[in-house]
Amino acid sequence: MSSLYFTEHGEGPLAVLIHGFPLDHTMWLGQLDALSASRRCVAVDLRGFGRSPQWHGGTLTMEQHASDVVDLIHHLGESKADIIGLSMGGYVALAMWERHHETVRSLVLADTKAAGDDDAGKAGRDAAAARLVREGRSAWGGGLIDALVADSAGPEVRSRMRDMVEGTGYETIVAALMGMKERKDRSGVLASITVPALVVAGEQDALTPPEIARSMATAIPGAHISIIPDAGHMAPLEQPTAFNLAVAEFWEPGTAP
Ligand code: MLT
Repeated sequence: MSSLYFTEHGEGPLAVLIHGFPLDHTMWLGQLDALSASRRCVAVDLRGFGRSPQWHGGTLTMEQHASDVVDLIHHLGESKADIIGLSMGGYVALAMWERHHETVRSLVLADTKAAGDDDAGKAGRDAAAARLVREGRSAWGGGLIDALVADSAGPEVRSRMRDMVEGTGYETIVAALMGMKERKDRSGVLASITVPALVVAGEQDALTPPEIARSMATAIPGAHISIIPDAGHMAPLEQPTAFNLAVAEFWEPGTAP
């Protein structure tokens, strides 16, 4: 049984798309039609996010999210899925690989990293939680969105991001900040990945820049890499066509238009 909200497009092998922070399944609206040509694409709202039940508990750990996504895969009648995770969704994907690798058929790790937070990063999580409470979600989210997208990102990308941030509860935001602060460094897990993997990054991603993507792709045996021009940390939203082509070519080589 899974209580997570999800939306489903297409038929074929299951693919689960895992959003970043503090976002929801709607970040994948530019992917679902294109990628459902070859997959049953399921975009999920993680525990506490989007239309999944409100969260009033403590820290939302990557391990909890990973186990929730595994439950969802089973709820959908499958034992495995192709996983796409963006940023925090990538942290969840790596936790799935480490703890439930039998459920992972392939991995797309987008605008993410394997390392945990260093001391400055951990302090930044506490500061972000305090700023959220002090400034309110709109002001807090505005600053975050500016940091996430490339300068060239248009008003529609920013507007969609704002909608998602505004739709995320305060308690979820704080619980997720604490979960990311505490998350394990999974750099050592990369060498153990034996399924096909694609690492994607926006060329102007300021949070997880292309150098991080390149070093992750080097550490994962046989991994592919795609650097998306004119995109920041939100490559699927900012450059959906290029992102979709990279994933389609990875899933079904030689078939992308
Ligand atoms: C995300 O996009 O999911 C977050 O920026 C990840 C993070 O804060 O580490």
